[in-house]
Amino acid sequence: MDDFHYEGGGLRCEGVPLSEIAAAAGTPTYVYSHAALERAYTELDSAFSGLDHLVCYAVKANGNLAVLRALAALGAGADIVSGGELYRVMRAGFDPKKVVFAGVGKTEQELMSGLGERILLFNVESASELEHLDRLCARFGKRARVALRVNPDVDAGTHDHVATGRGRDKFGIPVDEALALAERVEDYRCVDLIGIHQHIGSQITKLTPYTESVERSAGLVAELETRGFDIRYFNIGGGLGIPYKDEETPTPKELVDAIRPMLEATGTKILCEMGRYIAGGAGVLMTSVIYRKKSGEKSFIVADAGMNDLLRPSLYDAHHEVLSVDEDGSVANADLVGPVCESGDYLARDRELPDASEGDVLAIMDAGAYGFSMASNYNSRPRPGEVMVKGDSWAVVREREHSAELVKGELVPAFL
Ligand SMILES: Cc1ncc(COP(=O)(O)O)c(C=O)c1O
Repeated sequence: MDDFHYEGGGLRCEGVPLSEIAAAAGTPTYVYSHAALERAYTELDSAFSGLDHLVCYAVKANGNLAVLRALAALGAGADIVSGGELYRVMRAGFDPKKVVFAGVGKTEQELMSGLGERILLFNVESASELEHLDRLCARFGKRARVALRVNPDVDAGTHDHVATGRGRDKFGIPVDEALALAERVEDYRCVDLIGIHQHIGSQITKLTPYTESVERSAGLVAELETRGFDIRYFNIGGGLGIPYKDEETPTPKELVDAIRPMLEATGTKILCEMGRYIAGGAGVLMTSVIYRKKSGEKSFIVADAGMNDLLRPSLYDAHHEVLSVDEDGSVANADLVGPVCESGDYLARDRELPDASEGDVLAIMDAGAYGFSMASNYNSRPRPGEVMVKGDSWAVVREREHSAELVKGELVPAFL
């Protein structure tokens, strides 16, 4: 059974009617299914079976402590991109030996925090970062395990904002330069180069970008090994897409089967760092209809969730299915918009949507990844609450923000 499904006249998350959660916790609220998280993680993990591997969850997709705790308990590692994410994963109980740290702009403080926790790998993205890390290690008597993040110059065929592996993107080191940098690594006395990392983009719906990029990066692993390097980890990155609408996306098994011979040939431990695949389908955003309004030919459903709560439609023109929490088949052509003062504040545009009345609750589907984690306080709107469901139980896993939190840390100086 789907983790979100209609039963008894309403939409449920596992065994819990969403209307029950909306009535008790209010809206807008994100609702996450534990079963869906577990299913997606397990599917990924088993796709790699037969290979020495570790699935690192990309925390940026959804960093809620309950989500992290659930994944840590399943044995997942974590892919982080900031000191804040490191703080989260340590709070959630991840084993630091399963944590990999990417990002083009790690600050000295962030590098120090990673060294302090003795994380598994720093995915280094430039010669300057390597130099910096080495200097810090020397100063504080530490050693760092390093993977070079290479830029395989492959177009992932995804939205321009989330393609990260083309030559013109800011991420990683070109393959030939990575080879040259590796040759100089002996000059850096406190770093051990033991891995190669790539991540070519997000919401990838085809296998070719993976097969092409893995071929290039695995070629680099082989070249380094023939030159005497002890490369123990090969990280293929994240990015596997999910069907938001009617996209045909490869399964984890199809992905791994397509690259398995190349992975095997490296003789390394294989890492992957999926975020969206694990969390995307595991969450919905519930929102209540505040008003219906017409403007000429246009019909608007004005909801209490806006672009500050779920940015993806405004930022990427992303599609999310919209369902009625109370089963009701009638539909209307309308825009689902939020209260934010931007014309770009929409959740669905020119679509057949549930013909909802004021007070009805809608569920914006597949909002578990890059939903709350991209939410903001724009228009001084408190960020939504978050709930997790497991079987017939549910709990608030983040309180909805309140007005006092909007001005937290702000000070009015004495000269005013
Ligand atoms: C370095 C890195 N790894 C992993 C991911 C996760 O990507 P996704 O959520 O598409 O799997 C990202 C996101 O862009 C990333 O930047």
